Amino acid sequence: MNSQALRSSLPLLYSTPDAWAMTAMSDTIVLLNDHAHLERKAAANAMELLTRWPETDPPEHWTTAMTAIARDETEHLAAVTRLLYRRGGRMTRHHRNSYAHDLRKLVRLGGPGELIDRLLVSALIEARSCERFEILSRMCGDAPLARLYRGLWHSEHGHYRVFLDLARQVRPASEVDSRWQALLQAEEKIISAQLPGPRMHSGMP
Ligand SMILES: [Fe+2]
Ligand SMILES: [Fe+2]
Repeated sequence: MNSQALRSSLPLLYSTPDAWAMTAMSDTIVLLNDHAHLERKAAANAMELLTRWPETDPPEHWTTAMTAIARDETEHLAAVTRLLYRRGGRMTRHHRNSYAHDLRKLVRLGGPGELIDRLLVSALIEARSCERFEILSRMCGDAPLARLYRGLWHSEHGHYRVFLDLARQVRPASEVDSRWQALLQAEEKIISAQLPGPRMHSGMP
């Protein structure tokens, strides 16, 4: 698939310009550390969702999906930290991601909407990460990093689809689809409002 086809396979309303790669690549150690934490949080999120099935015991396909995602994210984390340490960086103890933080504030807590919101926010973060990996794989000018980002694209695209499909199994499709449209619009505003910098979910200068 070419770049346009890869992008149009994503549902996102805001399309990041290629020039974003300049700000993201302004410090590759900081970018790799940010990325490592995103993978760590994605693995932890899948493990957290494992116990969130709305009835008492989750069906096998739910545990299979969540454990597969957690395993993928842990492998991604290992690949990213390998590059980080090889280049003389270290993984920091603390990490802030205001993009994911702002998205998570949209989750309606305590009712039947909570689980679909958690799944849809997870799908949005996967889709946005996919978009950013596609841009970096073409624009970063750093062969090992380009290879990493190209490799991750397919995995994260699969995760985005899995989270969306699971949300449609938990609640009626019409309810999920209208919530999905609302969250896509909210995501457009949130990603556009991010500050620039060497982070995977940063904004434009
Ligand atoms: Fe990942
Ligand atoms: Fe993922």
